[in-house]
Amino acid sequence: MEIFVERSFLDKNIQSISENLNFNISFKKPSNTSFLQYGLNGLSFVKDLNNSQQILHVDFSKGSLGWRIKRAQHEINIKKALGKSKDQMLIFDATAGLLSDTMIFLSLGHKVIALEQSKIIYSLVQDAIFRCTNYDELFKNLEFHNADSIDFYRQKKIKSDVIYLDPMYPDSKKNAKRSGAMEVIKSILEIENFSAEAENILDEFRLLNYQKIILKRPLKSKKIIVILIIKY
Ligand SMILES: C[S@@+](CC[C@H](N)C(=O)[O-])C[C@H]1O[C@@H](n2cnc3c(N)ncnc32)[C@H](O)[C@@H]1O
Repeated sequence: MEIFVERSFLDKNIQSISENLNFNISFKKPSNTSFLQYGLNGLSFVKDLNNSQQILHVDFSKGSLGWRIKRAQHEINIKKALGKSKDQMLIFDATAGLLSDTMIFLSLGHKVIALEQSKIIYSLVQDAIFRCTNYDELFKNLEFHNADSIDFYRQKKIKSDVIYLDPMYPDSKKNAKRSGAMEVIKSILEIENFSAEAENILDEFRLLNYQKIILKRPLKSKKIIVILIIKY
């Protein structure tokens, strides 16, 4: 894959992203393939230039996420899932994606270790963190890594209060028109040869030591029964 950079925006940041990803920088816009783009707003992934829904760009201060971060105390479902605790928790976000849920956890005052397996998604999010000046205090409570979360959790013997899982789910007829961002994430995972649906991630984590696992699922999905075993 190529990274299209307008010449005037060529800087050390994009040079280091290009080295990390092992993608070449090009000054000519690719016409019929997916590519990364770097310019005034930082890094974006472009699946289809002619469809803004197919361009993925992370910005924590804008749009619905920016609004949710500012009003994190109103996130009733997330707060309910975390449970009542006056103490700061350590949350292990094993499916970080675009970091939206992690940003809510951080805004609620918790510490987060977040893991994203995709190098492309990780670079988009890292670039958003790099450009974001509003949330320096929140980012002090964040560790963000590009790795497989199951391996990382096992190897580092993480002891978190919560493991948070938000895997992608297969499209049902009802949610086939999924959000543009999820659609683009799916195509990035295909490019990097990751399986988009990682539903078995719950079973994998349940074999490890944990205190509490939160699994995010579509609202009307079939109920599953989870027996919680406290292993610590
Ligand atoms: C539905 S998205 C998560 C969205 C995220 N909760 C957010 O708020 O933006 C699922 C993400 O989990 C990542 N993922 C799935 N399995 C993983 C694993 N074993 N290790 C690290 N990341 C994983 C995928 O690459 C994908 O980006």
